[in-house]
Amino acid sequence: GGIPVIAIDGPSASGKGTVAARVAAALGFHLLDSGALYRLTAVAAIKAGVALDDEAALTQIAAGLDVRFADGATWLAGEEVSDAMRSEAASVGASKVAVFGGVRAALLGRQRAFRQAPGLVGDGRDMGSVVFPDAALKVFLTASVEIRAERRYKQLIEKGVSANLESLSQDLRERDERDRNRAHAPLVQLPDALLLDTSSMSADAAVRFVLDAWRERN
Ligand code: C5P
Repeated sequence: GGIPVIAIDGPSASGKGTVAARVAAALGFHLLDSGALYRLTAVAAIKAGVALDDEAALTQIAAGLDVRFADGATWLAGEEVSDAMRSEAASVGASKVAVFGGVRAALLGRQRAFRQAPGLVGDGRDMGSVVFPDAALKVFLTASVEIRAERRYKQLIEKGVSANLESLSQDLRERDERDRNRAHAPLVQLPDALLLDTSSMSADAAVRFVLDAWRERN
């Protein structure tokens, strides 16, 4: 369609979410945090007592997600889950439910519905490869696993959540492995994506890089 999409994909805790939100705000575009849908599927499954390897049951949960995003908060079946969906359990759970083709297919239409005028910034793992392959701009945003673990550690400590750098780093490596090696929509660096390594780059600089790339094309 004619509505432009900026696709920002990359590994966990690379800063995609922050960059996507700020680019969307700068351009007045809509924002799709696609990881939220996988996180919510995991949270809903855990609440329902569904095992995270039961594809049929997980697919039903994904298809029937009753979710509301409002004022920066997220509600699942009328219950606020803004914090629960950001927990390590939800992060690990999301990467487990995301391996299933049924779950991914159930979430596809919901993601594409975010494509509304004047444009959309989507962040995730398969924005440029599967959900919006015709995206006007594709960015692969990454950082070293050490830097990503440190950033996540600081975020948690600032929120008053206790954290362990070693186990965070281990979790990240395992999620990366699962995301890169799964059969359906694995995380890949597309040949037509711009590579943005933010290991030694501020969030401001990363946002500027994406906005400059966008303006060069338009
Ligand atoms: O981006 P975020 O860390 O919130 O995503 C949580 C998990 O959801 C990822 O580890 C990944 O397994 C899955 N995911 C995905 N495809 C997307 C976005 C997220 O498989 N487009």
